[in-house]
Amino acid sequence: MTTAANPSTLPVLSPEEHAHCGRVAALVRERIVAAGGSIGFDEYLQLVLYAPGLGYYSAGSVKFGAAGDFVTAPELSPLFGRCVAQQCAQVLAETGGSILEFGAGTGRMAADVLQRLGSLGVLPERYRILEVSADLAARQRACLAALPAPLATRVEWLTSLPQGHRGVVLANEVLDALPFQRFVWRDGAVYELVVGVDERGTFRAREQRAGGALRAEVERIRAELPEPWPEDYVSELSPAIGPWMASLSGLLESGVILLFDYGLPRTHYYHPERARGTLRCHFRHRAHDDPFLHPGMQDVTAWVDFTRVAEAAVAGGLELAGFTTQAGFLLGCGIETLLQESADIAEHVRLAGEAQRLLLPGEMGESFKAMALARGVDAPLAGFSLQDLSASL
Ligand SMILES: C[S@@+](CC[C@H](N)C(=O)[O-])C[C@H]1O[C@@H](n2cnc3c(N)ncnc32)[C@H](O)[C@@H]1O
Repeated sequence: MTTAANPSTLPVLSPEEHAHCGRVAALVRERIVAAGGSIGFDEYLQLVLYAPGLGYYSAGSVKFGAAGDFVTAPELSPLFGRCVAQQCAQVLAETGGSILEFGAGTGRMAADVLQRLGSLGVLPERYRILEVSADLAARQRACLAALPAPLATRVEWLTSLPQGHRGVVLANEVLDALPFQRFVWRDGAVYELVVGVDERGTFRAREQRAGGALRAEVERIRAELPEPWPEDYVSELSPAIGPWMASLSGLLESGVILLFDYGLPRTHYYHPERARGTLRCHFRHRAHDDPFLHPGMQDVTAWVDFTRVAEAAVAGGLELAGFTTQAGFLLGCGIETLLQESADIAEHVRLAGEAQRLLLPGEMGESFKAMALARGVDAPLAGFSLQDLSASL
């Protein structure tokens, strides 16, 4: 997602939005009291992002696009979904089967992928969507119902993981939306940053000695890094990535999992100079770092440690088939050729501007990455043919 970094000018909430935040905050306070004074940051995120009817992704705020809080690549331009479709076509030609998309947002990417695959004559048997937010699933249904019937009828929504899957799995900006933990390294020890409340009911980050799993994982990561961390080093760790990748590797019979997100290989993610971590909040196109502001009305994310993703996938028996920047992936999939296809001058100019934002290093081109994890697919993947950074993981 992209937003301008300008924390000093955050827009104010309407009375209704303010009341909504109050309800979300009351739920969080209730959990904190029930837990004896604090909850993990991951539990806090689970509530403020996904509590049914209340969390940021579960309630009805706009979120995506100009009227929302941030812009994702599929929302920015149809070129993104068309390039993804080029990669899907290559895999589907080898494996057949279906596409399974996680966290489809407004349904924009699904629509662009299906339209392109339709014009290439390589449609998947089904286009399945697994979405945790009932509100977003309703928006996806409205968006995809507008497709021509031969495309729209292939789309189905799942409420749980399928038993097995052959073909392609897609997830754009889903890994960064999984709840994560925060920690601080000090005096040779790991402290978890948990969430408590002060006497005025305001949420506060509190430190407590990290328990077994978090401490062991942070110590393992630290021991593998080439340079030591400075005192008071703060960062994040996403324990949900391991089980999520394990369930994906468990269901993939043959095909490719394509993951897109902003993130880094581990040595860069946990670099000593990144001493305040990667947590980022998005509200009305402003980025800032206060996760307790407007609970339920803003997105709270962290960058993805792609080494963790690859480790979990390989542990599940998948092959790392490629890792590159978003620009590398889109160029490998032929974005320049796709751009030339538009005959209409005005459309061409618009798409060229969008392509720049997708590709330029200062925009989404470099901070966003693409990763492919495969089972039983032999052909080298087009999206990773120009640049493969797998060795950096
Ligand atoms: C940042 S949005 C990205 C939406 C869309 N992919 C895009 O790029 O515009 C994150 C999406 O992931 C969904 N999500 C989060 N956790 C999920 C999970 N465990 N399974 C499926 N979807 C999930 C959210 O509800 C939301 O649709």
